[in-house]
Amino acid sequence: MAITSQEFNIDEALKQHISALRRTLKEHNYRYYTLDAPSIPDAEYDRLLRQLEILEAESGEVVPADSPSQTVGAMVSQTFAAREHLEPLLSLANAFNGVEADAFVQRIRDALGAEISEAGLQFIIEPKVDGLAVNLRYEDGRLTIAATRGDGKAGEDVTDNIRTIADIPWHLNASDKSIPDLLEVRGEVYMSKAAFADLNARQLLEGGAAFANPRNAAAGSLRQLDAKVTALRSLSFFAYGVGFGGRELAASQSELLALLSSFGFATQETAVVNDLSGLLLGYELLQQQRADMLYEIDGVVYKLNDFALQQRIGAVARSPRWAIAHKFPAQEVTTVVNAILWQVGRTGVITPVADLQPVAVGGVMVSRATLHNIDELQRKQVYAGATVIVRRAGDVIPEVVKAIEVDEQAIFPSLPDCCPVCAASLFRVEGEVAWRCSGGLSCSAQLKERLRHFVSRGAMDIEGLGDKLIARLVEENLLSDIAKLYELDFESLSDWQGVGDKKIANLKQAIESSKQKPLARFLHALGIRHVGSATSAALATYFGSLDALKLADEEALIEVPDVGPEVAASIRSFFAEAHNCDVIERLLKQGVEPFVPQQLHSDHPLAGKTVVLTGSFSAVQRRAAQEQLRTLGVKPASSVSKNTDVLIAGEKAGSKLTKARELGVMVADEVALMEWLNWK
Ligand code: IVH
Repeated sequence: MAITSQEFNIDEALKQHISALRRTLKEHNYRYYTLDAPSIPDAEYDRLLRQLEILEAESGEVVPADSPSQTVGAMVSQTFAAREHLEPLLSLANAFNGVEADAFVQRIRDALGAEISEAGLQFIIEPKVDGLAVNLRYEDGRLTIAATRGDGKAGEDVTDNIRTIADIPWHLNASDKSIPDLLEVRGEVYMSKAAFADLNARQLLEGGAAFANPRNAAAGSLRQLDAKVTALRSLSFFAYGVGFGGRELAASQSELLALLSSFGFATQETAVVNDLSGLLLGYELLQQQRADMLYEIDGVVYKLNDFALQQRIGAVARSPRWAIAHKFPAQEVTTVVNAILWQVGRTGVITPVADLQPVAVGGVMVSRATLHNIDELQRKQVYAGATVIVRRAGDVIPEVVKAIEVDEQAIFPSLPDCCPVCAASLFRVEGEVAWRCSGGLSCSAQLKERLRHFVSRGAMDIEGLGDKLIARLVEENLLSDIAKLYELDFESLSDWQGVGDKKIANLKQAIESSKQKPLARFLHALGIRHVGSATSAALATYFGSLDALKLADEEALIEVPDVGPEVAASIRSFFAEAHNCDVIERLLKQGVEPFVPQQLHSDHPLAGKTVVLTGSFSAVQRRAAQEQLRTLGVKPASSVSKNTDVLIAGEKAGSKLTKARELGVMVADEVALMEWLNWK
């Protein structure tokens, strides 16, 4: 029977929704804390928890003490003995943006009242290590019990396993008088990125399952029945707090960390600031350093530094009010696949791509993610309508990790019968995973990709010829191969929408100046299979001219560093193809003149030196100068480090100049640059 609007009870629906959410979250707590095998990304968990908190507030009902919004962790498993913490182990509330961080600071200001001056407040910033919390009990300075967080009141006894971690002292390094008889030290057990990579490589070798991330690996390794296994897993530990017995030890968090370090614990680098802008600056800095850190962090923790003030502010059910975790944008999120599309690449490879409902991953919106090949698509069980985990770490291209909760009725995509663009048949080269379109030169998708590659920055570097313009030129039959670029009748573009006179003039200029390019770039731009930029450079240096390369047989080619039989065969078959020779002939006829830069001047003052250019120069373009320096035997680099020999600073040089000065790197100006460029 259908429910009419009168019969439908909104309150009841809300209650049901809340209890469903509580059930779901409890299940996820169990999977995360007890099984070390979460089925959803952390960000999805945070979203569900936030939703529960909002709905509980909206419902106006009393929130039961066992609601996931009030508890931390999960029940202790039966496998390990339960150990009560002498003081509860709380968790942290989260802030997901600057506004929420601001609200945290504001709440503290409001709670402390007017007597605390602006400058009087101190916050400490600590990296938020992605591991698992443990409580270490020391009796007379001797480690007696170590337990996981559990439900915050009692955890699992993992003492033997904890003793295998080198960062955790068995005896506190302190005179008997300076430490309480009974002391709880708290901190995070984690696995470094390197140990994680090693462990997963070993797991795979031994036929075991790989861990999804260092946190799960750390949790799984700590909760081993056999401490010998834990010992092989290279776990680490940072101390960040104390429980029972710790109140009188220090007056502030920064003092406490120094003391813990003197006891023999590893502690993290921290910073102390006075206000929100200081906190946000720390957040930005750590976010920038995140990829280079030796261990995973998933955010930054802000704590009020002064213990007396912490005490006044107090705690709510699951977390203190004097601290908050400001999380980084999630690197793994869930979303739904709209469709699976098939893309045709430069060499005809057919790649499945997931068209996604747009989501923010790692701070950017993502609506497409590659699935690499049909085998991977099947392994990850991705289909239109699937809910999938998408990951984007640092600058890495977004990828689909896997589908979650695969629908049994799902229809899995299969390889298309023919090229989705030109309808030519597909083939698979023996020993390769990829399927390719057999359409070759007549496939417009391959042509577009080839053109995109030809004009790209690392190749002929023709600015102003974007994907849209290339697509249109191909579709209007004005660009049937790369040589046509130099034969283009620009007048025919003048009445195209969005292509004004200025754009045409710039494009003409860019095409004209691309005619003078080093042979290495030209070879790379041709897109010969297996010949990337490094091989192109090796070929150019070795043969010294296009003609010599064209004439080289496989035997000669194999002499070139890094060129093996497969690459040599590919180069030969490229130059054996009449069409390719015709295109090259026409390019040369149009004035394209690949050159081999002058021989290296080993006596050039900068030869062999690592040089960084920064700021803008009036007489040369920075990139052109860099290229030219390279031909003179200089090693251009993009960032300043202690390995930099010279920084050449132009107008408006900024942070690189500051850094160079700090490191005592030699700094030169444009006048010196011009001398070096024109050095004979
Ligand atoms: S302080 C009462 N400091 O993140 C204060 N926790 O999401 C409790 N964590 O439960 C924690 N780095 O397991 C603190 N520098 C840090 C931390 C940190 C990582 C963990 C800890 C905590 C969880 C909250």
